[in-house]
Amino acid sequence: MKLITFLLSFCGLSLAASARPPNYDESKVAPYTLPDPLAFKDGAKLTSRDQWPRRRAEIIALFEDQMYGVIPPKPALVRTELLESGDAFDGRATRKQLRMWFAGDNTGPKIDWLLYLPKGATNPAPAFVGLNFYGNHAVHSDPALRVTDAWLRDDPQLAIANNRASDQGRGRDAANWQAEYLITRGYALVTACYGDIDPDFDDGYTNGVHVLFPPPKPIPGNYTTSLAAWAWGLMRGMDMLEKEPAIDARKVAVIGLSRLGKTALLAGAKDDRFAVVIPVQTGGGGTPLAKRDYGENVALENKNFPHWFCGNFRKYSDNEAALPFDQHMLLAACAPRPLYVSSFPGQWFDPYGEFLSMKAAEPVYAFLGLPGLPATEWPAEMSPVSSTHLGYHRRPGEHAVTKYDWECYLAFTDRAFNKKIDWQPTQTDTWQGFTRDRFTVDGCPCWVATPKTPRPGNPWVWCLEFPEAFDTRTGAAKLVEDGYFYVHMSVGNTFGCPTAQAHLDAFCRHLVAKGLNPKGTLIGVSRGGLYAYRFAVRNPDKVVCLYGDAPVCDFKSWPGGKGKGPGSKGDWVELLKCYAFKDDAEALAFKENPVDLLEPLAKAGIPLIHVVGDVDDVVPVEENTALIEQRYKALGGTISVFHKPTVGHHPHGLDDPKPVVDLIKTYTTRWDIENCK
Ligand code: GCU
Repeated sequence: MKLITFLLSFCGLSLAASARPPNYDESKVAPYTLPDPLAFKDGAKLTSRDQWPRRRAEIIALFEDQMYGVIPPKPALVRTELLESGDAFDGRATRKQLRMWFAGDNTGPKIDWLLYLPKGATNPAPAFVGLNFYGNHAVHSDPALRVTDAWLRDDPQLAIANNRASDQGRGRDAANWQAEYLITRGYALVTACYGDIDPDFDDGYTNGVHVLFPPPKPIPGNYTTSLAAWAWGLMRGMDMLEKEPAIDARKVAVIGLSRLGKTALLAGAKDDRFAVVIPVQTGGGGTPLAKRDYGENVALENKNFPHWFCGNFRKYSDNEAALPFDQHMLLAACAPRPLYVSSFPGQWFDPYGEFLSMKAAEPVYAFLGLPGLPATEWPAEMSPVSSTHLGYHRRPGEHAVTKYDWECYLAFTDRAFNKKIDWQPTQTDTWQGFTRDRFTVDGCPCWVATPKTPRPGNPWVWCLEFPEAFDTRTGAAKLVEDGYFYVHMSVGNTFGCPTAQAHLDAFCRHLVAKGLNPKGTLIGVSRGGLYAYRFAVRNPDKVVCLYGDAPVCDFKSWPGGKGKGPGSKGDWVELLKCYAFKDDAEALAFKENPVDLLEPLAKAGIPLIHVVGDVDDVVPVEENTALIEQRYKALGGTISVFHKPTVGHHPHGLDDPKPVVDLIKTYTTRWDIENCK
């Protein structure tokens, strides 16, 4: 996305200047041997878990000495002053802007920190901390954000010229940070601009925080690089968070993209106060293996970014075999803490090498008795895999942190921090073996059944009527097993009438505000078809897909009994009352039955799934599903109808609901892909 222009300039430069061009041919990757993270420098194998801290320290010292340079200790003097604070995001968050100084008199380098803290029940909150490329003011369009005065890389899209920000850059990097979404999910966001810590160019380490630990001359081979300085900056952020009462300092995940992903990995490996480490699409010198010659190589890294890697690293240019370590060891140095890696299809960034690097780090987790990455093969795009300790996904799209990426990280950190949505239940029971919270919204009883391991993005299934009667046959139980939330609101026998719809709208808003996905899957069983369709039509942006099971699609058919079926007299009388129809004639003239309302659904591209018994004499197929099918297809919509040739209205669902479950998952993934943009 925005990063791409600035990346391309680098990649172009690298290709032109390189002695050895990047290899993009898998068949040309020469065999390589990786050093064993579970053997000490002297070759002795680790024999017990309590030796790991010593080996870990050895690994970190090796990386500092040979690759990134030494990360200096915390300076004697650090002062943080509050520049501004206030309400943000309609009162859902508190914003704090802090300035960190390293001298008593407001001179020398400073780091400006931005904190968005969730308000309400989640205090003290878990947090994500990461450095940004374009200034804190670019993280959100929030007008109170101070425009940075830090050095920035020029980028017209971000309104940065002459290495300086301007007000027009406000919010331009918001998609990468998803600040409001993080708040919704109960997390704080903490960020600072990397240019505040060290401007990203080769100046012999004279500017930025380097003035606090100036290099002797000649510059030693393991002197603090810019990457090490940025990592040092993140560690100073952690010092600050330890004193921030609104944040739970034991639950801080460190994150970063690209060179700032290398930074997050280095800081996370070094400083075990970071509880979870999330390096994103780091490129060479971060997550991918160096000895596997694919994409950016050591010579290119040294040549193009001499200030990122220390003098000692030069000797490995075109000589990766001589490296006494590889990047899997930096990943392993995060153990026993959870680590999440994610890739996009940029060859330069060697996505497959990122996966292999994780797999090579995994034995350390196993040695420590911790679960590994549940994948033996490289997972396909949009198929995230994770245990409590190692997680990985890859997705289509650009070099960026997308909403989908955040959903995956949040699923992982929720698990690591044992963070669950607090529904503030008045009662809790179980449904199909899952915890179910009961609470009230808009005066109506509601419940939510929570999956054991939510699928990234917290997808949900909402059966609007009879949610428990056929919950196995509709596939609802299987979906919850696979990570979907199952939700319900009781609005009584109200046939999808306008007053009931207002309650359903409020319920949906509540679910999303609590952190469920902005879109869900609706199930309309029998008369529930009226509820589901009429909700979907008014809220097409809230619906992934709609599954009707022998659904009523026209109340004239049922309960009206104006067609082939007998209808239901009592229900018809009820319906007239609920919809406030004066008489039969007014009800019969009503043009807002599901069969009349398909256009907005087709326009929004909402796929429909119907399951029908062909000999249904209560809700006859030809007056309901057949009409929907014919009209939806005519509108260009997608509809799959599953027929049960000898079955009547009951039983609902399928003996084996797998085909329906699979379709719902496919449609969920389709929506997830939208979030990769
Ligand atoms: C270049 C570089 C990568 C780096 C990326 C970035 O592509 O080669 O190693 O991660 O820039 O930080 O943007």
